[in-house]
Amino acid sequence: MDSIFSNKIWLAPIAGYTNSVYRKICKSFDADVVISEMISADALIHRNQKTKILAEFDEAERPIGLQIFGNDAKKIAEGIKILRDFQPDFIDINMGCPIKKIVKNGSGAALLKDLSKIKKIVSSAIKVIDNKFALTIKIRSGWNSDENLFEIVKIIESEGASGIIFHSRTRLQMFAGKCNWNLIKKVKQKTKIPIIGNGDIKIPEDAKKMFEQTNCDSIMIGRGAIGNPWIFSQIKNYLQNNSYNQILDSEKIEMILLHFQKMSEKYGSKTSLKSIRKFVPYYTKGICGASKLRQMCNQTDDEEKFIKNLLDFKKHLENE
Ligand SMILES: Cc1cc2nc3c(=O)[nH]c(=O)nc-3n(C[C@H](O)[C@H](O)[C@H](O)COP(=O)(O)O)c2cc1C
Repeated sequence: MDSIFSNKIWLAPIAGYTNSVYRKICKSFDADVVISEMISADALIHRNQKTKILAEFDEAERPIGLQIFGNDAKKIAEGIKILRDFQPDFIDINMGCPIKKIVKNGSGAALLKDLSKIKKIVSSAIKVIDNKFALTIKIRSGWNSDENLFEIVKIIESEGASGIIFHSRTRLQMFAGKCNWNLIKKVKQKTKIPIIGNGDIKIPEDAKKMFEQTNCDSIMIGRGAIGNPWIFSQIKNYLQNNSYNQILDSEKIEMILLHFQKMSEKYGSKTSLKSIRKFVPYYTKGICGASKLRQMCNQTDDEEKFIKNLLDFKKHLENE
């Protein structure tokens, strides 16, 4: 298989958004690598059915990683054993999630405070993986500051991880402020394993800047890809030809309809209606007159009405 690490454009894991359907939509627009939403090691061990659904994927999604989170090396290794049966291309361990519910249990970004635990987690994960597939670790630059960053990166590399996905904000920053891309550059300089740069890529121009400014091996797009699956092919065009096509507003509405249809086929229309509502503001951002559409989409529980609203709005856009 072509390396997943060099010059690739990855879709970030975004819990509540990047399910199998959306990952496939992004793949259809040239995303190279995708990852599942984060999956709890504890829940996997307790054989929670809902959790196992998070690990399911289609062959069309490859190369795909399954992301696990937890607060204990043994449990994470046990969880990876369960994920092994799904035969992903790689496993990713979440050491970056900043949300309270996760860090109060010592998982996600809370691990960045405990260097010996990081060492244990990576070394036991490597043993379980047994060279069957790659292991990546997704980190932030630290808890309150970046003072331990290079030590953390050194531990991850020396314990044998295949790559590091680096979102260059501290936990304290949550999702606010600007990412410090200079730290990505420094981490790249100090390591031999591939670095996937992540944070604040919203338009193709940002992607080019991230490659140029940090020399990272691959890049990962999160929020910039929500309601904007075209960003992957736009980035590729921009990197090759310095230009890319703009997406018509009517195409965006068409994509909401397709996205909803694909989700309904997989998860049923009731669940999908709830789920697609979260995407509508992203797909329709900046479209003139879309606030009324968003309101209507939020208010209806009726699948037919929902579809009609979108079709009417699309017609209106095409007649403008
Ligand atoms: C709503 C939301 C959910 C997220 N879920 C996950 C997750 O499940 N696992 C993970 O590693 N990161 C998760 N992230 C973080 C993103 O993967 C990414 O690192 C972060 O948003 C920075 O990249 P961006 O600026 O391209 O969005 C989430 C972010 C958001 C906003």
